[in-house]
Formats: sequence, structure tokens, C-alpha cells
Amino acid sequence: MQLPQIINLPKILDPRGNLSFLENNKQIPFEIKRSYWIYDVPGGEVRGGHAYKTLQEFIIALSGSFDVVLHDGKQEVKYTLNRSYYGLYVPPMYWRQLENFSTNALSLIVADQVYNEGDYIRDISYFLEQKVNKFI
Ligand code: TYD
Repeated sequence: MQLPQIINLPKILDPRGNLSFLENNKQIPFEIKRSYWIYDVPGGEVRGGHAYKTLQEFIIALSGSFDVVLHDGKQEVKYTLNRSYYGLYVPPMYWRQLENFSTNALSLIVADQVYNEGDYIRDISYFLEQKVNKFI
């Protein structure tokens, strides 16, 4: 079973400025089909609030900070992202919410699928039902 995890990325320290990178199936365990970013989030706003049936993603705070709250159907874990040299791998079937954005936070998300509304679960009760059936 795939589990969420913080993945540290390579960090090339340089007096001219540091550099980090990620490559398909190397630092992250999938091939990237899509990248998107979330920015200009007003104070107190929350993004996400859904699960994906099959999509995997990797979330990085390129700048500023925010929290990613993951729910596996039983318990909730909060990950604070605040550096551009690590990120959070999120497997399918986790309810995930992005919150507590700092001013000027910039969230980069890479995913293994193109956008497909059909892969979203936006109803938390339906999500919990699906997870309960799995745990039994
Ligand atoms: P959504 O994933 O629902 O964002 P959040 O869960 O943070 O509210 O996306 C918001 C809208 O943006 C949705 O109506 C569809 C559109 N969208 C795309 O067209 N392509 C994308 O890659 C993403 C992530 C969203």
C-alpha cells in the first residue's frame, strides 16, 4: 500500500543561490503528466477539500508555507511545508486539504494524470464510506 511521505529533494548548495530538482520516477515515484500551482491565496482560505480515486501527486512549497492535512478515513495528519527542497507525496484515496497559507505562499503540485474531474471525490461522506469498506 502506498503511504504519504515527505520526500527530500536534491539540494545543490551554491553561493550564487541553491538549486533543487525532481525527475520522473527518481525523486518522485511516478511520471509527471501535469503541473499546476496555487498562489495569491487570501489569508484564512482553504484549497483542496477532496480526494482523488487514482491520481498521485507531489506538493512543494516553492515559497512561503502552508499545511497539507491528509485524512486516510481513520485519522488526520497535518504536514507543514515551508521549504522548496522537500515535498509531500500524496497517494490516491486520501482526503486532502491545503490551509494556513502564509502571505506570498506558492504551492507547486505535480501529478501523474491530466486534469479529470471524474477522478475527484468531493463528497466527504462518500469518501469515508469507501475507506470504511476497505478497512473492513
Ligand atoms: P480544484 O482542483 O477543484 O481546486 P481546489 O480543490 O483547490 O478548490 O480546481 C479548481 C478548478 O480549477 C476546477 O474547477 C477545475 C480547474 N482546474 C483545471 O482546469 N486544471 C487543473 O489542473 C486543476 C488542478 C484545476
